[in-house]
Amino acid sequence: MCGILGTVIHEGSEPLRSTLIGGLRAVEYRGYDSSGVAVLGSDGVMLSKRAGKISVLEDYLGEEPLVGSVGLGHTRWATHGEPNDVNSHPHQDNHETITLVHNGIIENYSELKLGLIAKGIHFHSETDTEVVANLIGYLYENEYPGNLIDAVRHACRQLKGSFSLVIMARDNPRMLIGVRQQMPLLVGHGKHASYLGSDVTAFLSMTRDVTYLEDGEMAVLDHDTVRFIDIATGKQIEKKRERVDWDIEQAQKGGFDTFMLKEIHEQPQVLRQMLERYLPSPAEPVYLPGLDEFFEDHDTRLISLVGCGTAWHACKVGRYVLEGLAKIPCRVEYAHEAQYHFAPIDDSAVTIAISQSGETADTLGAVKAQKALGSRSIAICNVVGSSLTRIADFTLYTTAGPEISVASTKAFTCQLTMLYLMGLWLAERNGSLDPDELRRLKAELIAIPDKMAAILHSKKQIDRLARVYRQVNHMYFLGRGLSYPVAMEGALKLKEISYVHAEGYAGGEMKHGAIALIEPGFPSCILAPQSPLLEKMVANMEEILARKGEVMVLTNNPDRFSQYDVHVFSFPDCPQLYSPLLMSLPLQLFAYYSAMLRGCDIDQPRNLAKSVVVE
Ligand code: M6R
Repeated sequence: MCGILGTVIHEGSEPLRSTLIGGLRAVEYRGYDSSGVAVLGSDGVMLSKRAGKISVLEDYLGEEPLVGSVGLGHTRWATHGEPNDVNSHPHQDNHETITLVHNGIIENYSELKLGLIAKGIHFHSETDTEVVANLIGYLYENEYPGNLIDAVRHACRQLKGSFSLVIMARDNPRMLIGVRQQMPLLVGHGKHASYLGSDVTAFLSMTRDVTYLEDGEMAVLDHDTVRFIDIATGKQIEKKRERVDWDIEQAQKGGFDTFMLKEIHEQPQVLRQMLERYLPSPAEPVYLPGLDEFFEDHDTRLISLVGCGTAWHACKVGRYVLEGLAKIPCRVEYAHEAQYHFAPIDDSAVTIAISQSGETADTLGAVKAQKALGSRSIAICNVVGSSLTRIADFTLYTTAGPEISVASTKAFTCQLTMLYLMGLWLAERNGSLDPDELRRLKAELIAIPDKMAAILHSKKQIDRLARVYRQVNHMYFLGRGLSYPVAMEGALKLKEISYVHAEGYAGGEMKHGAIALIEPGFPSCILAPQSPLLEKMVANMEEILARKGEVMVLTNNPDRFSQYDVHVFSFPDCPQLYSPLLMSLPLQLFAYYSAMLRGCDIDQPRNLAKSVVVE
C-alpha cells in the first residue's frame, strides 16, 4: 500500500530533492499517512521523515536540496505501528549502515526481532521494517562483510510475507538494491540515473524505459549498470526492457483542482480511444486479439468474475452483460471471499479478474485459488506489467491511463466498456445474438462517449443537487437489474470521499427491511433508466414518497417523473444495456461535489490507499 522510490546517479552527486519529492508525490496515492527520504552524500546518510502528508515533510526539509549520489523515499499507509515520525520510513539498522524503505508485510517479524534482540540489537519503532534493516545490517557486518548483495539475499531468504524493498548502504555510495516478493517493484533506466519504484509513475517524468521484477528477483543498480539476480540461487538473470506508453501529463492534474475531477472529465476521451482501438466500426467484428486462441477448444460453461470495491461492482454489471449477450452462466464473488471459499469450479470455467491496479492482494489470491482448481483466467486490468497480468493466462487492457485519485472513476467505466466489448465479441463468436441487433448495439456503444460529454456539460445541475443534500448524513441509492451494482457504486463513491453513510440497495429488497429507515427528509437516489423495470422503480419511489422521504432521480425518461415532487437529473437516451456507463458520471459528480461542500480531501480520503496490496 506504500509508495517507494530509489535512485542512483551514474556519476557524481546532485540535488535529489525534486526527484525524490516529485516521485513521492506521484505515488502518494498509494499511502499518505507519513513520508520520508534519505540520501547518501559526502557527509554520510541524511534521513528525514515525518508523520502526515508529503507537504509536512517538505516544510520540515525547508530549503534542504538533498545532495547525494543515491537516494530513496517512501510514502506510507501504516500496517505495523501508528503513523508517527518514528514509525515512518526509511528505517536504519542500529549502526546506521543500512537504510531502506519497504512496502508490504513481514509476517515473521516478531520472531526475527527476538533473535536480533538476543544479539544485542535495539529497536526504536513498532514496525516490521526496522527488523529487516537490522537483519540486513547484522548479516552485512558479521557474515557477508563488503558484500551487500549476499547480505540482502540471505536476509530475504529468512523473511516470510510479501515485500518489496529498496536498500542502500552507507559504505557503498553508488549502489542501490531492490527486491521483490509479492509486492510490485520495477526499474527505470534513465540517461544519467537509474530508478526503482513501486510503480512507473514514481519516475515517469525521468524515463519510460522499464524492467519489471518478478517475485524472488533482485535488481542491483550500480553506477550506470543494472543487474538482475535470482535471490534463491544468486545467479544473474537476463531481463528485457520495455517501454511504457503512459506519459507524465496523464499523471498530472492538467488544470483541474483534483485528480478525481480530471479523471471524471477524461472519461469521454479515454472511452473513445478504447473503442477506436477495439471497435473501430459497427460493421466490423470487435477486435480483441488473442481472445480467439484463448477460447479455442474451450467449452466454457461458467464465468467466475472476481474483484474488490469498484472493480467488484464492475463484475456485478459484467454478470448481466455476459449472461445477456453471450448466454454463458456467470457468478460473481468478492475476491477476498473467493480465495477462501472453494465454490465448485473446474477446467470448464473461466475466471475474469477485474482490477485497476493489478496489485490488489485479494484479487491476486482469488485468481491463484481458482487457477489451482483448473479454471483458466483473464485479467481486465489497467496497469501494464502489473502482478495480475503476470499470473493471469490472458489480459485485456482497459487503457484508461494513470488513475491517481483513490476514488476510482474512469477505470470503472473502462472496465464496464471492456465487459461490453467482451460480451459483444462472445455473442458474435457464439452466434448468440441476432446480427442486426449486434450491429445496433455496437453502434450504440460507439455513441456513448459523446453522450458522456453531454452529461459533463450539465454538471452544474449535479452541483446544485449536491447543495440540496449537503446536510444529510445518510443516503440510499436504489436500482434494479443492471442499475443495482451502479447504485452500489454510487453509494461507495459518496461514502469514500464525503464520509456520508450511503447504501446501495436492490430496489426490490427495500420492502424487506431497509424501508424502516425512511422518515421525513430521508434522502434516496433512484436509478431509473428506461427499461422494463422502470415502473418497478417508480413503485419504489412512491413507497418512499408516501413516507415523506426526499427523492432524487437519475433517468433518461424525465417525463415519467414530471408529476412528482422529486429532483430529476436527466441523462441522454441509450439502450438499457449501456445505462450503467451514463449513470456512473452523475453519481461520481454527486459524490465529488458533496465531498467538496464538506471540505473533504478528495483525492486522498482518510484511511484509504489506492492499491490495497495487503489482505
Ligand atoms: O486496483 P483495484 O481495482 O483492484 O482496486 C480495488 C478496490 O480497492 C478499489 O476499486 C476501491 O474500492 C476504490 N477506492 C473505489 O473507488
